[in-house]
Amino acid sequence: MLTRARIAVLVSGGGTNLEALLRSQEQGSLSHGEIVLVCSSRPGVYALTRAANHGVPGAVVSRAGRSQEDFEAELQEQLLRYQVDLIVLAGFLSILSADFVRRWPDRIVNIHPSLIPSFCGKGYYGLRVHEAALERGVKVTGATVHLVNEIPDGGRILLQKAVEILPEDTPEILQRRVMEQAEWILLPQAVEMLCKQISEEGASRS
Ligand code: GAR
Repeated sequence: MLTRARIAVLVSGGGTNLEALLRSQEQGSLSHGEIVLVCSSRPGVYALTRAANHGVPGAVVSRAGRSQEDFEAELQEQLLRYQVDLIVLAGFLSILSADFVRRWPDRIVNIHPSLIPSFCGKGYYGLRVHEAALERGVKVTGATVHLVNEIPDGGRILLQKAVEILPEDTPEILQRRVMEQAEWILLPQAVEMLCKQISEEGASRS
């Protein structure tokens, strides 16, 4: 029998990438995985409402006002409680330490709204990435799904898709186009690919 990989989606905001994953699960294209937990680093974000709307458990593990160690200890506890196999960072804006990342080798995946290695690393997140691309005047941007290692935005690249920049673009318009044409397509594809690998590894061990 197929064992589906258990997915936790980590969020900090609106959660449109989470929505893309939930929809792909409902449409049957996430056939090797199951979203078992949505975990937010901030209380009250819309991503938690999305999780509730789809009947997926939501949790808040706050980053603000505490040490990195305490934050990650609570996060780890939640992930173990839900027996998570794969962690998906979908607009998760808190930094994870090298120690934490080493505990989940090849099991953390991130979506970034540029063509890595452009416009990535420290300080590049959300709208800032698109502001930087427009300021520099590049004509093509895109999105990247990559594994997470100790180096910010440094892990192995799984999927990338290019998106055209148009003359009248604002950061907001560009962000929306990158989401529609790249992020919401790539992330579910990459997550299914990883879940398939994980469930096949599990099957060969049992
Ligand atoms: C997305 O564009 C995602 O790629 C980006 O934050 C946005 C979250 O939107 N992530 C990063 O910049 C990570 N460095 P969402 O909450 O609607 O999915």
